[in-house]
Amino acid sequence: MASKTTEELFKEINELRKEKNAVILAHNYQIPEIQDIADYVGDSLGLSRQAARTDADIIVFCGVHFMAETASITSPNKKVLIPDLDAGCSLADSITAEQLREWKALNPGAVVVSYINTTADVKAESDYCCTSSNAVGVVESIPDDKQILFLPDKFLGAYVEMITGRELTIWQGACHVHEKIGELDLAEKQKEFPDAEFLIHPECGCSTSCMMKSAMYFNCKDGHVYSTSGMLQRAKESVAETFVIATETGILHRMQKENPGKQFIPASEDSVCDYMKMITLENLYDALKFEQYEVKVPAELADKALLPIERMLQIS
Ligand code: 13P
Ligand code: SF4
Repeated sequence: MASKTTEELFKEINELRKEKNAVILAHNYQIPEIQDIADYVGDSLGLSRQAARTDADIIVFCGVHFMAETASITSPNKKVLIPDLDAGCSLADSITAEQLREWKALNPGAVVVSYINTTADVKAESDYCCTSSNAVGVVESIPDDKQILFLPDKFLGAYVEMITGRELTIWQGACHVHEKIGELDLAEKQKEFPDAEFLIHPECGCSTSCMMKSAMYFNCKDGHVYSTSGMLQRAKESVAETFVIATETGILHRMQKENPGKQFIPASEDSVCDYMKMITLENLYDALKFEQYEVKVPAELADKALLPIERMLQIS
């Protein structure tokens, strides 16, 4: 059988979405076609909010597994689908619940703040969740005399330490895509594009190196380190006309679409998350048609994992 054209897939996905009262949520790193067909495109915080408030019967999550799990935790009565079960996350894989229990035992009384890029088992062992857009606010809400175990991203942890001036006990995890961005020489890019504004995701290795070399690049405290949706917002509001984008390249599609007169240059063309790119129009169509693959966090675990997510949503 001949494969369907993009137009046919768009049409049939739209019909199925309507027929099944489904909502399609997509992360800012998804391929352009997925972003274009989604009901909502956003960062981890925006997506968690949308998943928690939707009145659709089915949520199709075009993102990675921990995001679909979070949707299942916040919307236990909805059917949550991910088009490819292998869409994982190297950062979420960098700590297990067992490792976290051992870490907690070594640090009794500490408050655990987990990045949303964690499994449901890890969330269930945590006091607070946070995302790249609210990590500073979440840490600031915790009394000063409390030790904080911050996990799993060492670069986001270092960024939060710098902004809050607070010492954190940080798990040494990293995302394989963003860590590599830290190996780039951004000073070279700055010579190439002297008028460009640099927008940096806090998971990047360079978010720490640029802090150390702030005199050389710019001062991160000026607010150039953003979540993916924060970057999109900044791109709209800034008077700059050229931007160097230090994060996964999928974000450039929406940036360019929303700001046709501006120029966006990836810090590295190679910053591609293979997990995010596993979602295609074909498997999204199959997901809707066959209602696959369901991500369902068991009720007992979901109840425990919901608490740190709810605390986060109340703060930001
Ligand atoms: P955002 O919440 O900033 O979109 O980040 C999610 C993520 O996985 C970044 O790699
Ligand atoms: Fe995970 Fe990194 Fe991919 Fe984000 S870019 S989903 S942190 S592997």
